[in-house]
Amino acid sequence: MTAWIAFSVNGRAVDVEVNPMRRLADVLRDDLGLTGTKIGCNAGDCGACTVRLNGRQVCACLVPVAQAAGADVRTIEGLAAVEGLAAVEGHEGHDRHEGPLEVTDLAALQRAFLEIGAAQCGICTPGMLMAADDTLARHPRPTPAELADGLGGVLCRCTGYRKIAEAVAAASGGASVAAETAAVAVGADVGARLPKVDGIGRVTGVTQFGADERPSDGLAVRAVRSPHARARFTIGDLDQFRAAHPGLVRFLVAADIPGQNRYGIYPTGKDQPVLAEGEVRHRGEAVCALVGEEAILEVIDDAELPIAWQPLEPLADIETATAPGAPDLHDHAPGNVLVTGRLARGDIEAGFALGPDGPAATAAVEVETTFLEHAAIEPEAGWARRVGDRLELTVSTQAPYMDRDEVALILGIAPDRVRIVPTACGGGFGGKLDLGVHGLVATAAWLVGRPVRAVWTRPESMAASPKRHPARIRASAAADAEGRLTAFRFHGDFDTGAYASWGPTVANRVPVHAMGPYAVPAVLATTRAIHTNNPPAGAFRGFGVPQAAIAHEALMDDLATQLGIDPLELRHRNALRSGSVTASGQVLRASAGLAACLDALRPRWARLRAEVEAWNAGAAGRDEPSRRGVGIGAMWYGIGNTSMTNPSTIEMGLDRGGAVTLYSGAVDIGQGASTVLVQIAADALGVPAATVRLVSGDTDRTRDAGKSSASRQTFVSGNAARLAGEDLRRQLLRLAEVGDEAAIELGDGRVRLTEPGGPPVDIDLVELPTTATAAGDAWVLLGRGFYDPATTPLDADGQGVPYETYAFGAQVAVVEVDLELGTTRVHRIVAAHDVGRAINPTQVEGQIHGGIAQGLGLALMEAYVPGRTENLHDYLIPTIGDAPEIETILIEDPEPAGPYGAKGVGEPALVPTAPAILGAIHAATGARITRLPATPDRVLAALRALPDRRPPARRR
Ligand code: FES
Repeated sequence: MTAWIAFSVNGRAVDVEVNPMRRLADVLRDDLGLTGTKIGCNAGDCGACTVRLNGRQVCACLVPVAQAAGADVRTIEGLAAVEGLAAVEGHEGHDRHEGPLEVTDLAALQRAFLEIGAAQCGICTPGMLMAADDTLARHPRPTPAELADGLGGVLCRCTGYRKIAEAVAAASGGASVAAETAAVAVGADVGARLPKVDGIGRVTGVTQFGADERPSDGLAVRAVRSPHARARFTIGDLDQFRAAHPGLVRFLVAADIPGQNRYGIYPTGKDQPVLAEGEVRHRGEAVCALVGEEAILEVIDDAELPIAWQPLEPLADIETATAPGAPDLHDHAPGNVLVTGRLARGDIEAGFALGPDGPAATAAVEVETTFLEHAAIEPEAGWARRVGDRLELTVSTQAPYMDRDEVALILGIAPDRVRIVPTACGGGFGGKLDLGVHGLVATAAWLVGRPVRAVWTRPESMAASPKRHPARIRASAAADAEGRLTAFRFHGDFDTGAYASWGPTVANRVPVHAMGPYAVPAVLATTRAIHTNNPPAGAFRGFGVPQAAIAHEALMDDLATQLGIDPLELRHRNALRSGSVTASGQVLRASAGLAACLDALRPRWARLRAEVEAWNAGAAGRDEPSRRGVGIGAMWYGIGNTSMTNPSTIEMGLDRGGAVTLYSGAVDIGQGASTVLVQIAADALGVPAATVRLVSGDTDRTRDAGKSSASRQTFVSGNAARLAGEDLRRQLLRLAEVGDEAAIELGDGRVRLTEPGGPPVDIDLVELPTTATAAGDAWVLLGRGFYDPATTPLDADGQGVPYETYAFGAQVAVVEVDLELGTTRVHRIVAAHDVGRAINPTQVEGQIHGGIAQGLGLALMEAYVPGRTENLHDYLIPTIGDAPEIETILIEDPEPAGPYGAKGVGEPALVPTAPAILGAIHAATGARITRLPATPDRVLAALRALPDRRPPARRR
């Protein structure tokens, strides 16, 4: 049933013939082409689709379009000062400077978001801006409480909300954004707070994400997923079913996969089928797929399909999977142990032996963490088309080149016959390092010969995407009377779920980091990745290191208490420094700034502890039920892949017109990689960053720059970008026969080079031969940079050089615990991070803020329960109301091997947050929470278990 519904959108009258019950969000996007309104959950949980309806913010996914009849609807496309923004940029808007759009075209809110760095991946940004627009309309100078109330319905997984709050305050007249930005933007591009090179598209909503393109003549593919965690199945007569459903073009089953029905991260670990072959190993696994008109697929009830299930007893957890007699889920993993990791150094028994020469204190801890969901606001999405004998896949991803190779295997064709065109990535955090929609859209488009699209629903994403590994950790440590660590022992079991995914990476990275950022003469660290019938656990910001840090930092607190040494001081005494030998036997070179981070925190640590002590005394005197505490966490993190090659190649071309383009295979997942790489390459060439265009991620137009993971893009691809810029510069200097000091000025069809005090030399670019590619790129000169970090394989004891460099950091948390309710409120985080060199301080701060928010979620609220968690109302992530005050201290201990001294910060920012919060809860209450998250019930149980339990406080 359809009806004509008339309303106004951004001041223009529209009249659409639709089902009146269709969601307003779908009508805006699909019927009116206003894809600036994003969809993250279709359940009113994430707020990405927030628009203003007659002035008030609403989730457009919850509004039947009939409700908009006669109403005034405002979307992100109506916020800017220019009209018709959606038509300004095409598909490539996300990876190029935004052509005709200028900062001056933007509304004040958008300008503030852009300049302050309040948009990272940008998927939440349109909804956030509309919520902010509504808030400012009601409260022109909002208080923090009004701001939290106004923006509380929109989730952001990237920013930690601080810069969003700053931007809204600035737009309301609270601060001069332009003046603040200009003050730090003077000088070279490296070190400047340049706005994102792709930022205008993100604050205007025109950046294209995975679900934003809908090819004409396209079909959709939808997976049919297992309702059982473990089962055998058979599929009956699908032809008969198809005949009864016009618009259903075909089914896909395992036998239809043209090539290899197995994929996985490691060449030796390809164990995950695109479509299951008679047996499913986790709930949500795809068993077959429907290809057809999208509207038809939406109404087909999977329960009607001829699938016969034979449920089997699932291996629900590590204990069950490793119990005697448990069935093996895979032939390659006897006992369900996928892989083990090990690091051994020094005499561990002697290090723990108590005695006159032995340690003065020992501590032990057991830690248990749960599955965590990435909860990127953009679910997995993309589309594919067959172009002759090639397959083009436009998709949201963190790893275009890995995707290319995996899709080629699935289709049974050579990798150069697959083209990956990354869309903007609406949050990754490791979750888009695995294949999502890829296998099915590629297979369907290949077989059907028409474009095929898929957008995972939020429950589908929750069921089928990889998770953070749950961990069971036992660890102990010993120290002498001066607090010097003498020994550290660690064992961690990680639930890697049904398939390998990144399980081997976690098992190998954790032993290297298990003892924390400390010099320890004797270490034994072992790990196992265990298969269960849970969703595959994969990469999630830190590859197991955040779980391990909870253990080593609890031990440091315990040893400090036993020895009567200040916890910060204990960490300082043991901190790895330049020249230290790590547990893997690596001698650290110049950059190891943990001691500097702790020195920077020391005065704040002392002041905050004194303030909290005074506050607690007052609270006790008033018989209030809350207590505050201050905790500290420290970390280190190896940059790049563990003990294996992980090179990047980046190119920089100069065309006949005098335009410079950076060809970068490194995708920006919101962390700012594109901006940072442009800044680095521009400085290396000697031109302003604003003059450099960018092509990002397209595998037909760039070289392989590896995955956006392991905090590697600034260090590894940054080095490649620097080398590309230097190579192009060298070629120009040679052509002009000028010296190294010459300044470069790009002109129209020429380049001018001028040595200090010398005459200008012009190179006429039109005279030079042009190289053109099939993908449409052309240049007269091309600089190329290649970088592969210097690592070595680890031996059987984990000895070697697993990473070329490490990031260090420490954070202090101030929390308030309600002793009656068990709730914890994080008031403040002070974060000091050694980033080597901050190429773009705004982006670095943004990464730290976002990492802290995810660390807070890990500590206090996030828990994915297989089979139960289905949406963002039953998986809680921090909102703006949970965001603490954050003070960021950037320590720049230059890394000689880094581009301009830079290292990386994406994952390091998250690692110390949960340890600091848990330490603060302990300081406030005396209870050490070791089973995460520290939900109110667990905090209360821990309080009740205290031997010197305080009498219940009275709530006033
Ligand atoms: Fe908010 Fe990515 S910038 S979700």
